[in-house]
Amino acid sequence: MSRSGKVTVVGAGFYGSTTALRLAEYDIFETVVLTDIVEGKPEGLALDINQSRSIEGFETKVIGATTTADGAGYEATANSDVVVITAGLPRKPGMSRMDLIGVNAGIVRGVAENIAKHSPNAVIIVVSNPLDEMTALTRLATGFPHNRVIGQAGMLDTARFTHFVAEKLAVPVSAVKTLTLGSHGDTMVPVPSRCTVNGQPLSTFLSETDIAELVDRTRNGGAEVVALLKTGSAYYAPSAAAARMAKAVIEDSGAVMPVCAWVDGEYGITGVYLGVEAEIGKAGIRKVVEGALTESELAALKVAAEAVRAKQADVVDL
Ligand code: LAC
Repeated sequence: MSRSGKVTVVGAGFYGSTTALRLAEYDIFETVVLTDIVEGKPEGLALDINQSRSIEGFETKVIGATTTADGAGYEATANSDVVVITAGLPRKPGMSRMDLIGVNAGIVRGVAENIAKHSPNAVIIVVSNPLDEMTALTRLATGFPHNRVIGQAGMLDTARFTHFVAEKLAVPVSAVKTLTLGSHGDTMVPVPSRCTVNGQPLSTFLSETDIAELVDRTRNGGAEVVALLKTGSAYYAPSAAAARMAKAVIEDSGAVMPVCAWVDGEYGITGVYLGVEAEIGKAGIRKVVEGALTESELAALKVAAEAVRAKQADVVDL
């Protein structure tokens, strides 16, 4: 098997370390770098993952590096092809993702500047919250072209929706296709018209009320996990989504995924980071894929766009 490229995961919390583990286990990268500001933590986790290689059967090497806010330690990340930014605080029970904007903006801005300095050609996948705003901020702080800064949210929200539908109908998840667009927050736009079970419209199997309930649970999917965990937010499903995006980049696969991407005219919406479907490859976003929406879904997407546009304008000063 040939391995190529280097991926850095910034932040060795549960989200970051699980993402690094998944990326290492794919066995497609030469190197996975895991960083954190907690001294020794990324090195310790890297050593631990490396020691699992002979059991799980992968050769990718994991390197841990402690970093500081003034940029020390970032040499280890130099010339990464892909960077996943998980840095920042997670929610506590009762918090909305937006409550994190002030504190996480400072953290993400610093990380983004250091990453841009050491990996000027990387594709960056942002997962820090509030997601749409932190993606916009990373674009600003790096000065990278929009196609090389992507946010992870739609893959996760879609996966949650799929799980809830599969559970409700007692069918395999592989039989279910769902889609969510819009923001990774209150203006998330689940798209029932694009949801199918064994190729048949979701509305054949579920009433409007049932669908509305699942849509609601999807919109609150992250908060439901936060409320149960009490000390952090979800990371198994989120890391699976982020890792798949990084895989699509390094393999230049052209996979179409719901992601947070810069929208420039698609759906009649311009100049905002928004959850849409996009084709992912070495360049990051190859193109936004505009799918068919019902009138009310399109209207909801436009509402989401205006909501995130207003908040994204705020991050300039954060
Ligand atoms: C969630 C967080 C990670 O949705 O945004 O679980």
